[in-house]
Amino acid sequence: MTEAITENLTKVPQHVAIIMDGNGRWAQQRGKTRVAGHKSGVESVRSSVSTAIKQGVKALTLFAFSSENWQRPEQEVSVLMDLFMFVLTREVKKLHKNGVRFQVIGDTSRFSDNLQKKIKVSEDLTANNEGMVLSIAANYGGRWDIANAAKVLAEKVSNNTMSVDEISEETLHQYTCLANLPELDLLIRTGGDFRISNFLLWQAAYAEFYFTETLWPDFDEQAFITAIGCFDQRERRFGQTGEQIKT
Ligand code: IPE
Ligand code: IPE
Ligand code: MG
Repeated sequence: MTEAITENLTKVPQHVAIIMDGNGRWAQQRGKTRVAGHKSGVESVRSSVSTAIKQGVKALTLFAFSSENWQRPEQEVSVLMDLFMFVLTREVKKLHKNGVRFQVIGDTSRFSDNLQKKIKVSEDLTANNEGMVLSIAANYGGRWDIANAAKVLAEKVSNNTMSVDEISEETLHQYTCLANLPELDLLIRTGGDFRISNFLLWQAAYAEFYFTETLWPDFDEQAFITAIGCFDQRERRFGQTGEQIKT
């Protein structure tokens, strides 16, 4: 009961993003292959989705595969792709039942035709859902995202549907990924590193950062609630003074 009351008092971030890092080390610590770590990480994905829904988060964005991750050993990349396909096949119906709108952000054109089709079918199935929005970042890079938005604006200028003077933070923002979602409030990184690894560069401008040593497969419901609790303690000033925020 006390716990429920404390939870209710918590200011819940509307949009949370997570850099799900540490699968490889988790596995190596147990004498297993890196791939076993990725497989165990799937359970944390499931748990973070259900925790986010329970806590009233409106948008959850998970970094699953970066544009730099192609540089990993071919076999690891191939297992990650198979795992993505497997999880989509198994979980999307459940997401749909829970009213989740699912989307993938990133350059999906480099994925196999089968995976691209699966992504499209999953997005279409859940497109009209009004519950939490789950975005999976796959072959995503923050620089790619910004460059892509710049390209759209450049095209508009070159075909005279936009003037150069109309290029602004707001118009560029419209063409970045996640533009139609609430602003990113909380960015979590598991696995103990303190870096953004080319994740949501544009979107993280005023996000609160939360770094934890916990490796992704160990990031359970309680760990997520702890991160949300920590967010609740932060004073977000957005350039103003602490005194201004209080009044
Ligand atoms: C994160 O875990 C998963 C992906 C990047 C796909 P890692 O595989 O990076 O795990 P560590 O950082 O090597 O432990
Ligand atoms: C970031 O993790 C990408 C994902 C979690 C998908 P990495 O493990 O690839 O990050 P770096 O390369 O160590 O910064
Ligand atoms: Mg890593």
